[in-house]
Amino acid sequence: MSNHEQHEKAHKSVKRNEMSRRQFLSYTLGGAGAFMAAGMALPMIRFAVDPILKKKESGTYIKVVEESKITNEPQEFKFKIHQVDGWYVSDPELSAWISKDDQGNFFALSPICKHLGCTITWNTEKNNEYVCPCHNAHYTKDGKNLTVAPKPLDEYELKRENGWVYLGPVKPNTRVQ
Ligand code: FES
Repeated sequence: MSNHEQHEKAHKSVKRNEMSRRQFLSYTLGGAGAFMAAGMALPMIRFAVDPILKKKESGTYIKVVEESKITNEPQEFKFKIHQVDGWYVSDPELSAWISKDDQGNFFALSPICKHLGCTITWNTEKNNEYVCPCHNAHYTKDGKNLTVAPKPLDEYELKRENGWVYLGPVKPNTRVQ
């Protein structure tokens, strides 16, 4: 091997060592970077998700009206819910049509028409039915769809406690098929 070749070889091996050291450093730093990013991201994700989790834990029932105000005739009651969606906090106003059935059971219907989402009202045609002004859907007092709408009105979860009516999330109607 000539001097020149020996020099080349020595040089190459130094180069190879440098490369591997650089690779080692970049792996190490890259790994540390990813670790730090995860360390920052996790609390942020938790911060965003926490309110949703908390909402479920503490229940989502809202105190709406005194039991004594509920009659057989459906009445509309308005209430506000506190919503936290990531960074966005709002207090939209909702409404429910609450009444008693013949057995004295309380139930609350959503005012959102199941046709295209307009707002229904009770007994505007004096026929003891819910009517939607948009395309004339009709529903019974239990929320059963009679015309136009493809499904019954949704129902709110309802519970009674210490003389008050509380409403929870909306669910599919359980009173009619
Ligand atoms: S939206 Fe109610 S009838 Fe069409």
